[in-house]
Amino acid sequence: MKKYFFLGLIFFASSLHAQKFENLAKTPPMGWNSWNKFECDINEQTIREIADAMVVDGMRDAGYVYLVIDDCWQIGRDSSGNIIADPNRFPSGMKSLGDYIHSKGLKFGIYSDAGTATCQGRPGSRGYEFQDARTYASWGVDYLKYDWCNHGKQNAEASYTTMRDALYKAGRPVVYSICDWGVSKPWEWAAGVGHLWRSTEDILNCFDCKNYWGGNGVVQIIDLFTDIGQYTGPCHWNDADMLEVGNGVLTPSEERLHMSMWAMFSSPLMAGNDLRKMDRETLEILTNSEVLAIDQDKLGISATRWMKYGDLEIWFKPLEGETWAFCFINRGSQPVNLDQDLKTTIKKYKVDGSYTIRDLWKHQDLGSSKDNVKMTLAPHDVLMIKLTRSSTH
Ligand code: GLA
Repeated sequence: MKKYFFLGLIFFASSLHAQKFENLAKTPPMGWNSWNKFECDINEQTIREIADAMVVDGMRDAGYVYLVIDDCWQIGRDSSGNIIADPNRFPSGMKSLGDYIHSKGLKFGIYSDAGTATCQGRPGSRGYEFQDARTYASWGVDYLKYDWCNHGKQNAEASYTTMRDALYKAGRPVVYSICDWGVSKPWEWAAGVGHLWRSTEDILNCFDCKNYWGGNGVVQIIDLFTDIGQYTGPCHWNDADMLEVGNGVLTPSEERLHMSMWAMFSSPLMAGNDLRKMDRETLEILTNSEVLAIDQDKLGISATRWMKYGDLEIWFKPLEGETWAFCFINRGSQPVNLDQDLKTTIKKYKVDGSYTIRDLWKHQDLGSSKDNVKMTLAPHDVLMIKLTRSSTH
């Protein structure tokens, strides 16, 4: 009898912990991550300056609240197995850095790996999951990105579940970001384990390219998202990887296309550029509130590719309140005429009634779905529109 009582207590305690994690990511998490721009060249000063910039630039107020320190902050373990932050690069320690991040109204994210070492050869959490989770909680960590290098023969689901249980046990609510690059098809098992999972190998800073280990440009990631949309939704998101907006390679139209499609997929949005030095155009792309609203739409439905015709693709996404987002993207190097004007397109999709059409990048109404709105799409450009019902006929 006693045994059942204690088992019941343990079950009750762990479901209380689980509850604290349930609603942390009702909409896709947004923030900034150090990897795309800085890789291992990170230190406390840079992170503090990024935190300052997130406030001054208006990134925080646009919704980018998680500041995530990626690989290379850790240097070893002490004789008791506690993880140690690199004292040369982070002399004040992670608790103090976390306090600073919190003092700016931001949330503190950190990185580790489910294997024995991280992708850059720093200590991984394998065998130290519960100890590391307690350490992160003591530092005030709010977000954990958990990578998949050096995992040997580990099973992904089991390994990620162990860290989830460790986070529950440590008791501090943490957004848990699974990063096995889609290798184990996490969309099939991870909804009850993490809040988001990387669905592809790493993003590369290019519009259309691939590399030998599976890295993907923007359009390659878009292609990889054609079949997994049904797995995403509130509290469990397909993650299309961190943004390359503002990193000096993509043109402004490619950056708009990149942002638009990440929003169409309801992907988490982690800026990956140097926020201290960005120009106005980059900031406007990252903080376009009409585009961010598509990403953060409460229904959390990922877009469907409805048509591909040569270099032209048309994607649509149902939104809350009988509204719709459409993206027309031109992947090619020649302009594309939208000969099928918007009226025909919308009619073909069988959206009944009349809708007003809003261009979310130009911040302009283009007319009604009953008008003949024709356009030309420049190479590598996007038309992102929102349709709002104006009448039933
Ligand atoms: C992997 C991840 C990247 C980044 C690096 C750090 O490649 O997918 O996002 O975290 O490791 O080493």
